[in-house]
Order: sequence, then C-alpha cells, then structure tokens
Amino acid sequence: MQTVPLDFLGELRRTHDCGALRLSDTGKRVILMGWVHRRRDLGGVVFLHLRDREGVTQVVFRMDADAEVHKKAELLGLEYVIAIEGLVDNRSKENINPAIPTGEVEVVCEKLWILNESNTPPFPMEDTVDVKEETRLKYRYMDLRRPRMQRNIILRSKISLAVRNALYKEGFLEIETPFMTKSTPEGSRDFLVPSRMQPGMFYALPQSPQIFKQILMVSGFEKYFQIVRCFRDEDMRADRQPEFTQIDLEMSFPQQDRVFEAVEALVKAAFAEAGNEVVTPFPRMSYQEAIDNYGIDKPELRLPPFKRVEDLFVGTDFPMSNDMPVVAILTPKVGQISRKERDDIKAFGQERGLRVFDDAKRLERDYPEQMARVKERLGLNEDDLLIMATWSCDPKGPKPKDTVLLACGQLRLHLAQRYTDKHGLLDPKVFKFTWLTEFPMFEWNEEDQKWDAAHHPFCSVLDEDIDKLQNDRANCRAKSYDLVLNGNELGSGSIRIHRRDVQAQVFDALGLTKEEAQSKFGFLLEALEYGAPPHGGIALGLDRMVMILAGETSIRDVIPFPKTAKGTDLMCDAPSVVADRQLRDVGIQLRVKPAK
Ligand code: AMO
Repeated sequence: MQTVPLDFLGELRRTHDCGALRLSDTGKRVILMGWVHRRRDLGGVVFLHLRDREGVTQVVFRMDADAEVHKKAELLGLEYVIAIEGLVDNRSKENINPAIPTGEVEVVCEKLWILNESNTPPFPMEDTVDVKEETRLKYRYMDLRRPRMQRNIILRSKISLAVRNALYKEGFLEIETPFMTKSTPEGSRDFLVPSRMQPGMFYALPQSPQIFKQILMVSGFEKYFQIVRCFRDEDMRADRQPEFTQIDLEMSFPQQDRVFEAVEALVKAAFAEAGNEVVTPFPRMSYQEAIDNYGIDKPELRLPPFKRVEDLFVGTDFPMSNDMPVVAILTPKVGQISRKERDDIKAFGQERGLRVFDDAKRLERDYPEQMARVKERLGLNEDDLLIMATWSCDPKGPKPKDTVLLACGQLRLHLAQRYTDKHGLLDPKVFKFTWLTEFPMFEWNEEDQKWDAAHHPFCSVLDEDIDKLQNDRANCRAKSYDLVLNGNELGSGSIRIHRRDVQAQVFDALGLTKEEAQSKFGFLLEALEYGAPPHGGIALGLDRMVMILAGETSIRDVIPFPKTAKGTDLMCDAPSVVADRQLRDVGIQLRVKPAK
C-alpha cells in the first residue's frame, strides 16, 4: 500500500552512476538514481547511501540548507527508489570512507524525486547476513540485489561475452537449434511438451543440441557454437540443475587437438575475464591413467595421486587377495586424528567394499621394510595422513581391478573433503586443468545385462580399437574426452561417427534394433548418407565454470533463477497445476492427483 506521494521519472536522466564520483568531481552538479541502501537520520541531517549496479554514493540532506528536501528525505525507507540532484562535495578527512571507491565525496541534495517505495526487505541487502536458501529463492529479486549475487551474475554475463568473442575469433558461428524437438540421447529423462495440434503427441526439450549440431556440420557450417539452455529431468546436486547452460560447439574436419585448441582459447578468455591467468595447452591423461592414479575419471589434481603398493608386499602375509590392488593414500598436513575419525574413515571404506588399514604405526611394526618403501613411494611427511586399502571380497564387473581403484578414489576424495576446511588443502584460487582422453566406448549395465554407450552413441571408436567393437567391448575405447578442472567435469565431447555404416554397427553393439535406431535417430542416419564430413566437438557447462570462477560451491549461486533440489522455482511456484481446459486442449487426462 502506498504511503508516500510518488514522483514521475519524466525526462530525468542520470548524469553519473553511483560508483562514478571521485574527488575530481567536486563542485559538479549531478543527477543520480538508485535504491536507498542505508539511511542515518541525525535530526538536522539525513545521510543516505544511494545504490545502483555500479556502486554506492553518500547523499546528504541538510535541514538548514533546504528544509523541504530534508523533510521529504525523512519519508524514505530502505530500498525506496529515488532520483536526486545535487552538488558533489568533498568529505572532511574524518568522514572519508575508504571502504567504497566514492568514499572521498558526497552529494549535497537539492532535489529529491521518490520514484517508488518498498516494503521492509525480508533480509538486509548485505552479504554479511546469512539467509536461509529457501527465503533467498522465494525473494530472489531481493537476493539478486545483494552484492555477492550482483557480482556473480555480472561475472556470468562478462564470461559469456568473452567466450563468444573468443569463439568468433576462432571462426565459429553462433547458430540456434530448436527447444521443441525429439528426445536426445544424453541418457537422462526428457521434459515433455504436449502438442495441441497433434493430440497424444509430444515434443521433448533437448538434453543437449547434440544431433542438431552434427547436422549443422552435414549442412556445411563447419564451425558452430551456441551458449544454450539444456533440459534434463535428473536428480539434482550442487552442480546439477534441470535446466542449465552449455557452451556447445562442433567443428568439421577436426582432430581431437583442434577441438582442444578451440576450447583452450575460450577457457583462457573466460578465466582472464575473472582475473585469472591460465596456462595452455592443458596437460592430458588417459582415462585408464586417471583410474590407476586417482580412482576417478575427474581427478582432483590439487592433491597427490594415490599409489599402488601391492608389489611391495609380495611374499609377506599382508592380507591381500587375488592380485587385487593395495592402495596407499596420502592426505597432506592432517596431523593427528582421533579414534572416532579413524572409525569413520574405516566405515566409509567398508561401505564401498574396501578393507581399510588406518593404523600406519601398526603396519610399520608388522612390515617395517615394506612400509619404509610405501612412505618413500608416496613422499610422506611427518604430518601427512597415510591410509591403506584393498578389497575385502571379490569385486564384480568386467574390470574388477578398476572397481577396487574406483572405491579407493572415493576414499581419497572423502579424506580430502573431510580435511579441506581444517587444513586448507584445496585452494580455490589454484586451477588444475586436465584433458581426459581415451574413455571406454561402452559401459556394462549390470541391471539389464547389456552394454550401454559410456558417453553417447555418436562417439567414434579409436582407430586401433575398431576390431574390439565386435569382440572386446570391455576394452574398446572411444575418441572421446573430458575437460576436468579441480575434480569437476567441466566439459565433455568426442570425435563423432560420420559414416552411416559405422553408426549402424555401434547401434547394433548397443543392442538397438534397426527399427529402434530408425525411429529414434533415423533423421541423423539419413543425413549421414548425404556427404557428412568428419566432425567433432564438445560442450562445457557454463554454470560450473562460472561457479568455480565466482568461488562458489553451488551452481544455484550463479544462476539467476534456479530450482531447488525438488525442481521447484520457489519464486514463481513452478511447477504448478494447470486448468482442466488446458489439459483437455492437449488431450491429457491425469493418472495421478497433482502433488499439491
Ligand atoms: P554432457 O552430457 O557430458 O555432454 O554435458 C556436457 C557438460 O554439461 C554440463 N552439465 C550440467 N551442468 C549442470 N546441470 C546439469 N544437469 C548438467 N548436465 C551436464 C557438465 C558437462 O560436462 N552433447 C554432449 C557434448 C558433446 O558430446 O559435444 C553433452 O551434452 O559440465
């Protein structure tokens, strides 16, 4: 409800933004606009901090100079929207505020326009106040006014521009692809859009523009990119949203190295925008090397790798089974840990099938020579934590050794995360990139007892593994690659299959019948028959990149209007029920009662 008389903006125009004024502007007549950020009423004088996107300027209203304006200023509340006209004055020495760039001046107000009032904000517009995420998301328009979110969203915009510029420089064209389309093959569930004109039929929102970008190569555009929204109905985590943004690109006639060069250029530009220098080319590591040394396909390289040490215990009574790996994990600078912490570590390993040796002292007593060599292999220092692990039973799956190493990889990360805060192990300002290459082409699906595509079914097979497509799928590698940064998968791509016969072979290996392949991807298969050039590309997660550059730990903090873990937009209350008539229009009858 309106409580103060409001003014019109009319033809008023800002002369400066609220971050602009300096000592050299003293004496100038200025017009500023923005929000009342802070307010101090000292009786005869009212001080305001006026805020806009660019900063904050102090504005003074003196009763003795202009009683009418001063009286109007007394009506102002926090977050009111105003315009002021006045003269820039230098502040006396004791009033200088070194915390803000405009802190040496203030504007003595002569005219005040109140453009809009505001309810009492649900939380202060300061970063120092901790607010529940639920409240922040409900009042997102207010949350986005806070300095941290303003910084993040502005950074996101600048990074997008830097990426665009870098890609244009490399000869890429930005081309749009449809949002209302057919199911795309990224392995998640689709979000569906019912068709009114063809009742009973559905579009799917794209999980990625994968097939369209390949078709754009068939169409001869040679270098495509798009900063594009993708939609996946999957469980959410801190680095996953149901709609998220990819920097998606594809090029014709590339080797893997050409794709890497293009990505390195854009990553360099994006990181420079956030004030970080990145050294390129990025190092490379094969998938198998990553598993052997880190037990994961997105290695956290700010910490040392683990080491295999089973060879050191051959001929001893060390409890190891069937050639299974024995892994030694070093977590730096942990110092002493309690019995309870040891038990937790053990339990964490046990839940993943590991037998954990947490008592290095005891191992040293029982196997002094071997343990001396373990320590040497790891480069262990006094205050580093040493945990060893091996398998507690016979692991399942086509690659049992990898199963053990993957479990050890989880233990290594668990230890790192557990001691990160305490010991500052993972410096967010250190950026360790690596290209992961030679991924497996297939993944064994234990439940359905069949091979699935490890990435998507359009990746081509490594030239030297082409025979394994038929006779050794467990060891068949793809020309696919990931860009990994500090343990995060930043992007993923491949050199594609550009021949119809090879694509048909891969569909066959995946157990797709001809009819299924035709109904799902027939248009791509057909396009491959019309002179498809060799092509390849990648997609990087923009949200994840901005999250890392903004120093955040959740992508929700770099997305203006994110969803909660349950997929809800708390501000506009989506998803929501729709009118019966809308359902009738698209020929839908609900089989369940709406959740709310
Ligand atoms: P992929 O599925 O690996 O590949 O996705 C590429 C990158 O997109 C980001 N990403 C996500 N970010 C936030 N929320 C999500 N739910 C989410 N899912 C994925 C990740 C990931 O590395 N078409 C292929 C790319 C290609 O082959 O060119 C694709 O989409 O950073």
